[in-house]
Amino acid sequence: MAEIEEFLKIREREGLLRTLKPVSWRDKGRIRVNKKEYIDFSSNDYLGLSGHPKLAEEAKKAMEKFGTAACASRLMSGDLELHHRLEERIARFKNKEAALFFNSGYQANVGIISSLYGKGDCIFLDRLSHASIIDGVLLSGAKFFRFKHNNLEDLDSLLKKERGRFNKALIITETIFSMDGDRPPLRELVRLKERHNCEIFVDEAHATGIFGKNGGGVVEEEGLEEKIDFIMGTFSKALAGFGAYLATSKKAVEYLVNTCRSFIYSTALPPVIIACNLVSLDLVEKEPYRRDELLEQARYFRDGLKAEGFEVRGQSQIIPVIIGDNAKTLDTAKRLQEKGYWVLPIRPPTVPEGESRLRFSLTFHHSKEILGKLIDDIRI
Ligand SMILES: Cc1ncc(COP(=O)(O)O)c(C=O)c1O
Repeated sequence: MAEIEEFLKIREREGLLRTLKPVSWRDKGRIRVNKKEYIDFSSNDYLGLSGHPKLAEEAKKAMEKFGTAACASRLMSGDLELHHRLEERIARFKNKEAALFFNSGYQANVGIISSLYGKGDCIFLDRLSHASIIDGVLLSGAKFFRFKHNNLEDLDSLLKKERGRFNKALIITETIFSMDGDRPPLRELVRLKERHNCEIFVDEAHATGIFGKNGGGVVEEEGLEEKIDFIMGTFSKALAGFGAYLATSKKAVEYLVNTCRSFIYSTALPPVIIACNLVSLDLVEKEPYRRDELLEQARYFRDGLKAEGFEVRGQSQIIPVIIGDNAKTLDTAKRLQEKGYWVLPIRPPTVPEGESRLRFSLTFHHSKEILGKLIDDIRI
């Protein structure tokens, strides 16, 4: 207990103590916290689908038909026809042979990576990989090497030096990085994987529903479906649902059903969620204007901030404004919160030391009018 108290004291002194802040209401990009209303710049409801009436309708129908819970894991009696419809739909959406649904993005990454790779293998992952990827790699027991963010030369030299000593080799990247909002040189990464006899795994958590002609993601936009062995993504962000998917080969799906512990040893998600995920995929297809407008708004916001002299990163709806110093980042976030913007400071260990930032996560509901006013308010 003394150790816990000491840890909390240090975190508080350094301005790094995290606390929970309960939200009492949410609608169209706005939230209420502590009885105060804010424009929410921290949600992943990128397409603004979370309040869509079609989702509410479908949720009601699924609840009436199946009740509240799946009542068992997939390998017991929790395997619903709905899961199979969803998986077939995902495979088509991602243009792959097969797909497997997971209970969350975290469970997917931890389970998939640690099932497919192990002792005697090696994994090369981007330095900015999400915690769920890192945990999957650690759990796998494979030897791993972290290459500099989006740096092909660094990866190539690591591959030249290390690849030969191992059996299988995997390269992992995200297609939109969660903290920097940028994308990797995917085509070149595929070339490296081919040259060095590796497999490649991509996490499309923040790209699904946003990029590509059909909203399939960055892999679709770049036409690389055939070349990418494992395409993972989530329903918890732009698709305003929950759970995650892996789109891959039939054999890999069959293997994971038999070996992946986070898939096997967890109760299947409530049917309502699965039914809503199916509707979200329809909405992504039928309402492309949502992603077009979102990306246009993001461009407007990023360009406006750059014109004001801010250091802004990324090429997506995630817009980090690098402040650097922890205390200054906290102060700016506090000032914006007082003005009614729910924007959160992101600090180490989530991002590297010296790169504390405000992370603006844009949604379809953030009009140019709102964003223009926000640019004025950040400047002051
Ligand atoms: C890149 C990335 N992968 C995976 C996850 C985990 O997804 P989920 O929230 O569905 O567990 C996240 C969530 O923040 C993420 O940003």
